[in-house]
Amino acid sequence: MRHHQISCQIALVLGCLVITSAVWSQERQRGSDRKVPPPLKFYQGRKIAQTMHYSGAEWLIRNEREREERCTLMWANLGVKPGMTVCDMGCGNGFHALRLARMVGKSGAVLGVDIQPEMLKLLQKRAAKARVRNVQPVLGTISDPKLPVGKVDLILCVDVYHEFSHPEQMLSAMRKSLTPRGVVVLVEYRAEDPQVPIKPLHKMSKKQIMKELPRNGFKLVKQFDKLPWQHMMFFGRDPDFDADKSDSADSSGD
Ligand SMILES: C[S@@+](CC[C@H](N)C(=O)[O-])C[C@H]1O[C@@H](n2cnc3c(N)ncnc32)[C@H](O)[C@@H]1O
Repeated sequence: MRHHQISCQIALVLGCLVITSAVWSQERQRGSDRKVPPPLKFYQGRKIAQTMHYSGAEWLIRNEREREERCTLMWANLGVKPGMTVCDMGCGNGFHALRLARMVGKSGAVLGVDIQPEMLKLLQKRAAKARVRNVQPVLGTISDPKLPVGKVDLILCVDVYHEFSHPEQMLSAMRKSLTPRGVVVLVEYRAEDPQVPIKPLHKMSKKQIMKELPRNGFKLVKQFDKLPWQHMMFFGRDPDFDADKSDSADSSGD
């Protein structure tokens, strides 16, 4: 376990290079996202983690991952069915996307969104090797996942939400992309559990998650508490949420 802890942390430290501000200035230079505010350092009292760099992508497909995280159990409890349109948000090299593609079948589709084109190239390479044809790579920006409006049945966010430099913009866009009964599933390492061998910056507590999602128009609809390391929380659109309130919500960075 100790060896594992060290290798996990080295991988995260190596992988977590500062790319967000570089992406932000590129977007501004291109003029494609002029209204995007600067990346937040804190949100609702939580320090935002740096983006995991694509050079650390091998860690995402490590052999121990199933034993550590019981991904098979997580997938089995997602409620994904054939024919669905699902999104793997922050898909990296597609560890979850490829599995989701099999779960939705030929009649369904998986949108693999990431902000690093290199991650999407790795996803495409792995999809081609596995002969998976229903995964569509989508290059998002730090504030816009570029998802179709009202079309997505489920958005899976594994180990990514805590990296969002623009949580409010991302949540707003994700909310708009959902079908009326669509859900966002947040899977985050448990901050409450010191036994989970992941750096604190890359973990989230349920309390913190509940400080962030409901104020952005999401309602907790279900939880699955049997994963060894992670929270798994399902959020649907809160019908009472008035879109105007989001503008006045505190986004001061604390
Ligand atoms: C720690 S990795 C997790 C990858 C994958 N979800 C998994 O569990 O194997 C986080 C990924 O989220 C991506 N990411 C960070 N911010 C993002 C954003 N605003 N929109 C889309 N992807 C983002 C990063 O580029 C990185 O590939």
